[in-house]
Amino acid sequence: MNGEDCLKMARRNNFENVLLDTLPNPIYYKSIKGNFIKCNTHFAKLANISKEEVVGKTAYDFFPKDVANRNKIIDAKIMKTLQPLDDEIYFDTKNGNRRYYNLNKAVCFNENNEIAGIVCIMTDMTERTKIQESFIQRSKFLELGELIASIAHQWNEPLVELSAQIQKVAFSYKNNKINKKEVSEFVKDSMTQIQYMSETLTDFRNFLIPSSVKNKFGIKKSIEEIFKIIGKDIFYSNIQIKYEYKNKEEVFVYGFKNEVKQVLLNIINNAKTKIINICKKHDFKGIITIKVSQNKNNCIVNIIDNAGAIDSDIIDLVFNPYFTTKNNGTGIGLYMAKVIIEDRMSGKVSVKNKNQNVIFKIQMPLQGLDIENITPRR
Ligand SMILES: Nc1ncnc2c1ncn2[C@@H]1O[C@H](COP(=O)(O)OP(=O)(O)O)[C@@H](O)[C@H]1O
Ligand SMILES: [Mg+2]
Repeated sequence: MNGEDCLKMARRNNFENVLLDTLPNPIYYKSIKGNFIKCNTHFAKLANISKEEVVGKTAYDFFPKDVANRNKIIDAKIMKTLQPLDDEIYFDTKNGNRRYYNLNKAVCFNENNEIAGIVCIMTDMTERTKIQESFIQRSKFLELGELIASIAHQWNEPLVELSAQIQKVAFSYKNNKINKKEVSEFVKDSMTQIQYMSETLTDFRNFLIPSSVKNKFGIKKSIEEIFKIIGKDIFYSNIQIKYEYKNKEEVFVYGFKNEVKQVLLNIINNAKTKIINICKKHDFKGIITIKVSQNKNNCIVNIIDNAGAIDSDIIDLVFNPYFTTKNNGTGIGLYMAKVIIEDRMSGKVSVKNKNQNVIFKIQMPLQGLDIENITPRR
């Protein structure tokens, strides 16, 4: 290399460094073995060491073990498929703040067209994620009135049963008929009812907790948990629920469990309200059908009601924030469904009419990145 080439090279290097440091995102480049080769100032700041010290280290030196493990799995995957990949990570900083980042990763090649390493651009999503989380949580509280009414229904039967038991005991006592066996039966039967009431409350309380991290969860179990809270309400509203599950096995989704339950609940409640209104006007047998199936990458849940199509001039508006046709509606439910399923979980939610049926279709990724299929290298 002559002097001029050296100068050109130095200028190029300088240009690259300035470019990398000017970009607001943390960026790094690492070898196929996972050792850092280079990073920009923003990454060094995030890792809390100098750019020079970053060289040679691995993700395990900067991130919690589970984040580093996930990193390794993703690296293995992109080196296998040679396709760029996006992922989300979060970690707690030393002072206890949770930070969320989007990662965009891609492989790069050397002059012999061999994989030379992996480039990663990180985008700080913390503010956006926190705003979304608090908005989702607030919208959950907007549905609370309806949920509490459901709990009242759910408690009705056990309360009637309990009061019957108590009257029976009082009657036996009055007639001097009470014996040990009767007392123990009274206790056992009462406890069954109390247990049932307490489970409804536990399910309700669990539902209120925000799921701030993505997890693997069973969709059928989630649906079952929803109906443990609203089942009796639906039943007393004279609505039939039909389950059409394509396979017997559970379908595991990767995402925010309680928020998905919130989405399903709102769609079911919308259908319920429509059916109740129709029933007030004429005799009608309302049916809500819940279908669960899966394809290679997604779990698909269809929620179908038979209570009349959505007008064609509003069907494209129903997911808009604050769009409602109800006197006491908020117009937040379906908008939140979009935010939760599409923005937060990279899924899809849509609606269509089929004759007099309305079909809401929710697609959610199956336990992300088929992580189980990739054996990480170390
Ligand atoms: N199953 C359904 N059938 C017909 N229209 C529906 C159905 N679900 C939702 N909609 C329409 O979408 C609107 C928005 O729903 P949503 O966002 O849940 O807000 P809200 O329930 O407060 O009105 C409803 O007001 C209604 O007009
Ligand atoms: Mg609603």
